[in-house]
Amino acid sequence: MIKASMLSIGAYIPEFELSNIDLEKMVDTSNDWIIKRTGIKSRRIAKGENTSDLGYKAALCAIKRANIDKNDIDALLCATISPDYYCMPSTACKIANMLELKSDVLALDISAACSGFIYLLELARSLIESGIKKNVLIIGAEKLSSIINWKDRNTCVLFGDGAGASIIGATKSDFNIMDTHTASDGSKGDLLITPAPGSVNPISHKIIDENLCYMQMSGNEVFKVAVNTLTNDVINILEKNMIKSEDIDLFIPHQANIRIIDAVKNKLGLKDSQCIVTVDKFGNTSSASIPMAINDAFENKRLKKGDLMLLDAFGGGFTWGSALLRFNGENL
Ligand code: UT7
Repeated sequence: MIKASMLSIGAYIPEFELSNIDLEKMVDTSNDWIIKRTGIKSRRIAKGENTSDLGYKAALCAIKRANIDKNDIDALLCATISPDYYCMPSTACKIANMLELKSDVLALDISAACSGFIYLLELARSLIESGIKKNVLIIGAEKLSSIINWKDRNTCVLFGDGAGASIIGATKSDFNIMDTHTASDGSKGDLLITPAPGSVNPISHKIIDENLCYMQMSGNEVFKVAVNTLTNDVINILEKNMIKSEDIDLFIPHQANIRIIDAVKNKLGLKDSQCIVTVDKFGNTSSASIPMAINDAFENKRLKKGDLMLLDAFGGGFTWGSALLRFNGENL
C-alpha cells in the first residue's frame, strides 16, 4: 500500500517582535497576566507582507529541504483563517503562482482554524494513499494581526503571525504518517468567530461600527472544551495505534496556551523533554502554529529522521484532531 510521509518542514517567522510590554501600552493588560494565563511572552507581526508572502517563504524552505523538483508538486493545500482575500482568489492559488508551479496543480484553501494543519495532513495523506497525487505541499499561513481588534484585550494579547509548510510525499518507507484523526462540532461555532464579512453579515457600515470583522472569543469556555477534547483525542489515537506515551519522541501540540499544553502533557504522563513549546515566543498562530513548532524542533536539532511525533490541535468551528507520524526529512 502506498503511504504518505513528511519529507520536510519549513517556516517563515516575520521579523517584527511585539512583546507583552508593548501590549501594556496598547490595552489594559500586564506582562504578568499574559505570562501567567497563557505562557506567551512575545509574538511576531508581519509588516508589509500578506498571508501569501508568509506562506510562500515557508514553502520555499520546505521545498528546498525536501530536495525535490518543484515541478513534481501536484497539489498545494493552504490552511488559513486570514486569507489574502475572503472570497477569491484563494491564497493557495496565489502561492502556487508565486512558486511558479505548473498549471495542473490542485490549489485549494481550507478553513479549519487552529486545527488546519492536522486537517491538511489528513487530506494530503488521503490524496497520496489513494494514488491520486504524489507530492502535496501543505501550508499553514496566518496574518492574524489583520483580523485582530487591537483594542480587545481578550484576544489581541494571544495571537501572532507566521507560516509553516511541509512536503508530504508518497513513500515505501516505514517513516510515514501512521494515523490522523479529524473532528468537528459546529454547534459551538459562536464561541470563536469572526462575524463578518460574509453572507450573515455582508459588507455594511454596521460591520465596521460594531467591530464585526475582528476575531471574537469566549476564551474561558473555549479553554475548558479544548482541554477535555484534546485529552480524549490524543488518548484515543495512542490506544488505537497501540502506542505508549514513552514511545513518543516529540509531542508537538497546537500552541494556544501553555496551560492547555501542560494539561494534555500531564494527562499523558509526558516529560518536558518530549514536548515542544513555542507559544512563549510566537503566541497562537492558528493553522501555522504546529508546522512552526515542528520547524523549531527541526532547526534546534530536537527532531531527527525517524522520530515519532504526536500532534494535536483544537480551534474555531469547533474543529480538532491529532496525528501520529514518523518524520522522514533529512536534518540540516
Ligand atoms: O487556538 C484556538 C483555541 N483557543 C484557545 O484554546 C484559547 C482558549 N482560552 C484561553 O487560552 C484562556 O481562556 C484565555 C487566555 C483566553 C483567558 O484566560 P482565563 O484564565 O480563561 O481568563 P478569563 O477569561 O476567565 O478572565 C479572567 C480575568 C477576567 O477578569 P475578572 O472578571 O476575573 O475580573 C478578565 O477580564 O482576566 C481578565 N482578563 C485580562 N486581564 C488582563 C482577560 N483578558 C485580560 C488581559 N489582561 N489581556
